[in-house]
Amino acid sequence: MGQRNHSNLILSFHLPFQSLFLAIPILSIFPSHPPSNFSINRMEGSTGMSEAWPMVERNGTQLMTKDEPFVIHGFNTYWLMVFAVDPETRHKITDVFSEAKEAGLNTCRTWAFNDGGWRALQVSPFNYDEEVLQALDFVLSEARKHRIRLILSLCNNWSDYGGRSQYVKWGQESGLDLTSDDDFFSDTTLKSYYKGFVEAVLTRTNTITNIEYKNDATILAWEIINEPRCPSDPSGDTLQAWIEEMSAFVKSIDPVHLVQVGLEGFYGPSTPELMKLNPDDYSGVVGTDFIRNHQAPSIDLASVHIYPDVWLSHSDQDDHIKFVQNWMDQHMSDSKDRLNMPIVFAEFGISIRDERFGSGFRELFMDTVYGTFLRSLETGGPGGGCILWQLFPEGAEHMDDGYAVVLAKYPSTFSLVSLQSKRLSDGAST
Ligand SMILES: *[C@@H]1O[C@H](CO)[C@@H](O)[C@H](O)[C@H]1NC(C)=O
Ligand SMILES: *[C@@H]1O[C@H](CO)[C@@H](O)[C@H](O)[C@H]1NC(C)=O
Repeated sequence: MGQRNHSNLILSFHLPFQSLFLAIPILSIFPSHPPSNFSINRMEGSTGMSEAWPMVERNGTQLMTKDEPFVIHGFNTYWLMVFAVDPETRHKITDVFSEAKEAGLNTCRTWAFNDGGWRALQVSPFNYDEEVLQALDFVLSEARKHRIRLILSLCNNWSDYGGRSQYVKWGQESGLDLTSDDDFFSDTTLKSYYKGFVEAVLTRTNTITNIEYKNDATILAWEIINEPRCPSDPSGDTLQAWIEEMSAFVKSIDPVHLVQVGLEGFYGPSTPELMKLNPDDYSGVVGTDFIRNHQAPSIDLASVHIYPDVWLSHSDQDDHIKFVQNWMDQHMSDSKDRLNMPIVFAEFGISIRDERFGSGFRELFMDTVYGTFLRSLETGGPGGGCILWQLFPEGAEHMDDGYAVVLAKYPSTFSLVSLQSKRLSDGAST
């Protein structure tokens, strides 16, 4: 997720009456209040921080902790590190983890980068701010306390929090002749900046828990870049080379943790027959390729996002739901049959500021995502899981892009998330 352009969403939209009927039978199975006494983390109990915590590992298409299956029931909250720098806002990290835990969520995906600018972690190439690194230590330590696993993203395609355009600026400032943000993927100097940063984070020892990041079971996976695209090379070769090099680099420093790319999931030139599944013709030529990118030897998890609200310029609620089901089913079957790896739907969400949708539809959408994943899992599909974009505690609404889910404000959404937790803990351990 980055700055999504919502201007194309201000369409005059007529709510199809039928989708209301579609919503009722599905949503009526949710209890109207949170289930009272289930525990998602049966295994953990009330363990202290010092107690050993098994890593999440991969066995073929499934995730495991020790001998138990692990299924991701996750949420995105990208701003944790930045809020943790400031003593005034630090408590929000604890708030969001507590709230998530209460709903039975077990995994958080968040940014472990902030390049240049305000509260930068990477102030300039090879120069990292210790205060911000300690804020990241705090995020990891709070996650561990709450028994929440983290997927940590190491760079942004978008210019929010710096990202690859900041790397290009640094390169230009040092005298390199760079003309496009896509140079991020091929320029040797920029690649050395990225590698320096990755090495600094992975080899850090947490000042609060005293655990090295690369040995910390709190971390479920490293994500090498959020939502990469390299439209200047639609063949996909440039991005493919970058993914292969950087995922291998991460593994060379940290062979323990799982690695994912951070892709949106568009099919590309390696599978022309699947490109009709893409939301439009353009998404097939942005330099990404779901199948080929995930065949990079150091990649463990398939990553996919779900944003038909933005990807389909003209869609109603029924189109939206149909797209979600097809998109998920095809990617799950590919993860199992072609890639032999678990699949993480690492972002799915909807803006309730979008006139076409409200919180009722958001729940139908969430239920569709959860239901589609579970049905597949129960019939031999790949493991992995789904990560909502995005969970907010109360009092951070000024950061809301319309996609924020404040569970305290939407009891029925809380019930829906809790019910998914219960289904997962009934079907598999967490
Ligand atoms: C890993 O998966 C294989 C094949 O599905 C299975 O036979 C094996 O028992 C699994 N290993 C563990 C530790 O569960
Ligand atoms: C990635 O960044 C480029 C600009 O640098 C932008 O054109 C592209 O849309 C961004 N990615 C996504 C997911 O849209």
